[in-house]
Amino acid sequence: MSSSQTIGILAEARYLTQNQPMGLCQELERRGHRLSLIDPQKTFYVMGDDSWFAGLDILVGRGRSWGLLALLNWAERSGKITINRQEAISAVHNKAHMSLAFAASGLPVPQTYLGSINQLAGGIPVDAYPIILKPIFGDNSRGLLVVNSPDEMAGADWAEPVALAQRYFQTDGYDLKLYGIADKIWAIRKRSPFNAAREQIEEGLVPLTPELEDLGVRCGKLFGLELFGVDCILTEQGPQIIEINDYPNYTSVPDANAELADYVLRRVAERI
Ligand SMILES: Nc1ncnc2c1ncn2[C@@H]1O[C@H](COP(=O)(O)OP(=O)(O)O)[C@@H](O)[C@H]1O
Ligand SMILES: [Mg+2]
Repeated sequence: MSSSQTIGILAEARYLTQNQPMGLCQELERRGHRLSLIDPQKTFYVMGDDSWFAGLDILVGRGRSWGLLALLNWAERSGKITINRQEAISAVHNKAHMSLAFAASGLPVPQTYLGSINQLAGGIPVDAYPIILKPIFGDNSRGLLVVNSPDEMAGADWAEPVALAQRYFQTDGYDLKLYGIADKIWAIRKRSPFNAAREQIEEGLVPLTPELEDLGVRCGKLFGLELFGVDCILTEQGPQIIEINDYPNYTSVPDANAELADYVLRRVAERI
């Protein structure tokens, strides 16, 4: 596509020093496209006044703030193309909703429970321990807690009314990340942000098997995410899916910026 596009990038300030969306921005600018960088929390908006997105050919969002979700929703209502769509980000933001969708999907996920700490302590079978507790709205390992018995669970210092509880697998301390741009998938070994690695293993791209590729594509489709990263762990029962996140940094994905720019421009071209 030769014509120059105007691309809105919605990103909260904390992302402006990260590989994404900045890598995508640089690549789009290098190709001669115009960018409009919008921090959804920087200003206030007058509903009904659509001027903030009127000149944009597409909007790409990174973040999960209420402001960002509302702005994406707003632009979509007016028929703008957005990546990721607001509904897809919302579907994975709430970990309880995300886990319900995974549990119903037939994809390999650890057995997961939902309830108050006391209900979980009384209800989860003893042989399911160790258990990892997760807050409904968590990321960057915030609030994760491993408990080894019902007593430990009952005594846990848990501030929220409910928790997600999941069987906790021993791993080598590394996650397998499946990074996706629509149906194109990369597999990356990356140190777990939570689990200390016992021995050092090289991080980075690993061969993509048909099984992993299929897992990645199915996870993206399940939530309607176009840009996503799936956190998996490798267990004796094969890969288990831990969670999916919208628009990751694509660390170790070869030519990630060019791949992202190609995809964004393809989405604009499909519309024209
Ligand atoms: N059930 C589990 N078994 C083993 N490790 C887990 C499990 N759940 C989470 N982890 C480890 O903790 C990390 C963070 O958990 P995750 O559910 O992705 O929360 P966050 O949203 O905070 O990233 C994962 O990347 C994984 O290494
Ligand atoms: Mg995670």
